[in-house]
Amino acid sequence: MSKLQTKIEQVKQVLADAVRDFTSVTFANSLGAEDMVLTDLIAKFHPEISIFSLDTGRLPQETYDLMQAVREHYSVPLQVYFPEHTQVEQLVQRIGMNGFYASVENRKGCCHVRKVVPLNRALSGKKAWITGMRRDQAVTRGGLEVSSFDADHGMQKINPLLDWSNAEVWQYIKQNDVPYNKLHDRFYPSIGCAPCTRSVTPGEDIRSGRWWWENPENKECGLHVGSITPIKRV
Ligand code: ADX
Ligand code: SF4
Repeated sequence: MSKLQTKIEQVKQVLADAVRDFTSVTFANSLGAEDMVLTDLIAKFHPEISIFSLDTGRLPQETYDLMQAVREHYSVPLQVYFPEHTQVEQLVQRIGMNGFYASVENRKGCCHVRKVVPLNRALSGKKAWITGMRRDQAVTRGGLEVSSFDADHGMQKINPLLDWSNAEVWQYIKQNDVPYNKLHDRFYPSIGCAPCTRSVTPGEDIRSGRWWWENPENKECGLHVGSITPIKRV
């Protein structure tokens, strides 16, 4: 068995364990390359896992194009969560339409309204959530575990691709004809909101195009905060 095939089997096992151990499992799908690998595996092997995306209202057109392609390519539904409109209106009044460039505080405030609050709604009532995070994506992700209790959300958090490399992600996408964000072909290895993502030059860190004006230690948006404790079955 190839190294990639072994890793695919491991992910399938992680997904099988998740649905066995937790009564309702959901997958947070940013439509990034890693998340498209998981979308493909979940659609093929565990359609009982629900899939959702957070539409911040500031995503690039290419991400919306991919959402549409996912709808046409896979039979599993992708549920889209939006921010609460009064919170967005108050935020824009307070910091301005692009006020997130002015300070880390403003940026985190925007991520809170546009991502964190909708995430909490998407996770409500669930017992476990799945993400596409990989360990080598960022200095902030080195200490993650494949499965751990997420005290902030009161449920298990599962990162099945934690030990995959970027090359393995792309090998899977190409081998399985998985739809992907066209921005990846234009040197956008990591894609978030349009105003907070830019292309990188070859050799640059893969997340260097995200919130490029901030220090690497700040580069989490609030979706992935908090503590890691051992597995707890529910
Ligand atoms: S983040 O800093 O934006 O959170 P990244 O883009 O690396 O970082 O995403 C990490 C994981 O967070 C994704 O694999 C996905 O599980 C989740 N995630 C990020 N953005 C979204 C989104 N818009 N909708 C759903 N899940 C998301
Ligand atoms: Fe706002 Fe940028 Fe965060 Fe998107 S990534 S929610 S635009 S600060």
